Amino acid sequence: MSEPVIKIKDLTFTYPAGVTALREINLEINKGEVLAVIGQNGSGKTTLVKHFNGLLKPSRGNVLVNNNNTKKFTTAQLSRTVGYVFQDPDDQIFMSKVYKEIEFGPKNLGLKGSELKRSVKEALEIVGLWDLRRKHPLDLNLNEKKLIAISSIIAMKPEVIILDEPTTGQDHHGVKKVESLINELSRNHTIIVISHNMDLVSRVASRVIVMYDSRILFQGTPKKVFVKNALLNKTYLKPPPIARLAQSIKGFKRDVLTIDEFIDELISNKSRSSKSH
Ligand SMILES: Nc1ncnc2c1ncn2[C@@H]1O[C@H](COP(=O)(O)OP(=O)(O)O)[C@@H](O)[C@H]1O
Ligand SMILES: [Mg+2]
Repeated sequence: MSEPVIKIKDLTFTYPAGVTALREINLEINKGEVLAVIGQNGSGKTTLVKHFNGLLKPSRGNVLVNNNNTKKFTTAQLSRTVGYVFQDPDDQIFMSKVYKEIEFGPKNLGLKGSELKRSVKEALEIVGLWDLRRKHPLDLNLNEKKLIAISSIIAMKPEVIILDEPTTGQDHHGVKKVESLINELSRNHTIIVISHNMDLVSRVASRVIVMYDSRILFQGTPKKVFVKNALLNKTYLKPPPIARLAQSIKGFKRDVLTIDEFIDELISNKSRSSKSH
């Protein structure tokens, strides 16, 4: 297997105000995975991922990005490899035109002329917002602003893309759009996604880490994680609705996560019970 793209070793972080938000975190993030980070508000998810592009630097321990210690690099340098999309797009968007907002990153990386134009066009097209290029970002709705924030990171083509609560405040249509975007981006990027939408997590993630009180409580595939109800309860999390329904039915396998698996269980359960009569 290839080297992990990000290695976190004994990471502890205390904010200047005195809050210790991360304690003794050890984690390796592999190239090409879709890693979901879940956990209640305040458990340390954002603080953790802000260490991956140097927005925060460890108080103790180390974070290595492609074996480079983040302590020795600026966020601008690390952002070539790891792009972080803020939870609140208003914390990220600062240009007066959508086109300029998307252009800013690749321009700073030295892209010019037709190459620069192509990267802006591709980044806007992948989120489906090319038609909004002449708009002022403040005139957009939250869904659109979130997609613009994602697009401006895509335009820099970082190896790793971090999405911090990309579906918060979005309707069903917005969630579906983010889901297909993650699936598309995961073909040539490593994706880290923080989310409270367990349905989305169960469908896109190859691995889930569960944070609780500044630590990683446990981790595994969605199938492994969403059957651990007692541990999830401790963190005030619940498995996705379809899993909860399957878990409540006698005779069903407990690790059902999709409609197809649910239907399979329904059929095999029926044939089992008709045989026993
Ligand atoms: N800028 C900050 N200054 C001081 N404390 C902070 C700051 N940002 C977050 N915290 C605290 O750090 C802890 C973890 O926060 P955060 O990483 O934002 O959690 P999550 O993303 O899981 O909601 C919380 O107790 C929060 O109040
Ligand atoms: Mg957060």
